Amino acid sequence: MPKITFLGHSCFTVENDQHNVIIDPFLTGNPQAAVKADDVNPDAIILTHGHADHVGDAIPISKRTGALIVSNFEISTWVGQKEANTHPMHIGGSRQFDFGKVKFTQAFHGSSFEENGNLIYLGMPMGVLLTMGGKTVYHAGDTGLFGDMRLIGEMNDISVAILPIGDNFTMGIDDAVKAVEFLQPQFVIPMHYNTWEPINADPQEFADKLKHSTAKAVILKSGESFSV
Ligand code: NI
Ligand code: MN
Repeated sequence: MPKITFLGHSCFTVENDQHNVIIDPFLTGNPQAAVKADDVNPDAIILTHGHADHVGDAIPISKRTGALIVSNFEISTWVGQKEANTHPMHIGGSRQFDFGKVKFTQAFHGSSFEENGNLIYLGMPMGVLLTMGGKTVYHAGDTGLFGDMRLIGEMNDISVAILPIGDNFTMGIDDAVKAVEFLQPQFVIPMHYNTWEPINADPQEFADKLKHSTAKAVILKSGESFSV
């Protein structure tokens, strides 16, 4: 029975009695952040791609807590060079960890990070399927709509899909509604909206457009939780 907590933008924790996993821990500088980076104590940190609004506080959190950073090979190598604890994976690969099973999916987006005035490239962007306590959560990362979401839905029994709706950099509401049709999740939580002006979107409009879907929209305010 994992508990999913929205911490603002694309940052979520997925936890049970034993383990706490944080995805895309952008807290410092996140106008929506529900907690401070110093207040989270995860076992593991999953990073979907290299953009600063997703990598966020991953390195300091990992160094403080010893949390394992799980990401693509390029991000993993980069955080490893900064002496964070890390495990590399890549798209299509899965691995059973003590905290749960991780499988990375494709996403259509970028994965760069600006460091010392240079734009470094950190591999391919990804989504993630995280299975804890028999329940699978799909966090799509930042992505546009793609047809193979149908395949992801077909091959996985998704309890909760966490999808961007903010448009401009990712899917907007209408494309996210189509993604829900492809993924067939039980519940869907919108993310990546209303953090800044270019990604303003109304989550209620998204929920209304899902009225005839079998999936139920769960709109979380930053800091709110939902258990499945
Ligand atoms: Ni991004
Ligand atoms: Mn983003």
